[in-house]
Amino acid sequence: MRIGRILKIVVIVLLVGFLLIQLVPYGRAHDNPAVVSEPNWDSPETRALAERACFDCHSNETVWPWYSNVAPVSWLVQHDVDEGRQFINFSDWINSGEVDELSEVVNRGEMPPFQYFPTHPEAKLTDAERAALADGLAATVAQSPATTGREHGEHEEHEEGE
Ligand code: HEC
Repeated sequence: MRIGRILKIVVIVLLVGFLLIQLVPYGRAHDNPAVVSEPNWDSPETRALAERACFDCHSNETVWPWYSNVAPVSWLVQHDVDEGRQFINFSDWINSGEVDELSEVVNRGEMPPFQYFPTHPEAKLTDAERAALADGLAATVAQSPATTGREHGEHEEHEEGE
């Protein structure tokens, strides 16, 4: 077979595959549930930094770009948001579990995850901004009502069987 012909077949197979995976559902629709409760922010600056770097995956105010509807990106984005909200949800603070980790994760530069930056350069914080966010989050956690998330809840035993 000529190399040109093989290439053509490969391209067609890839194209058909790309179209077919669009039919695979990515779970429930990209949705933004109502905001339940926000933490008692220590300052508007802290909230603004968190909104810039964290809210897309850790709030109910996610901005869903057009490519978040195109597989396979749609699956990855949905997965990040589902999992992110499960750990920390700034729009459902009362049910957020890992709030004690917040400033530590920021200090260590672990969040946002690296795959987020190519499409969200604005989420990249300077060293000063990162320090301000880490301090602000620590202060916010200290003055916000205790959460009932999985790590902290008294309900842990009841959830075990589910
Ligand atoms: C692109 C989506 C995304 C963004 C943006 C994002 N996170 Fe996350 N975050 C996740 C996901 C997914 C998890 C759960 C899995 C994991 O730990 O990697 C998570 C987990 C966490 C956890 C739980 C502790 C841990 O790492 O296991 C904390 C705390 C956290 N994020 C804080 C933040 C903060 C603070 C920001 C903003 C500076 C942020 N995240 C931005 C997706 C995101």
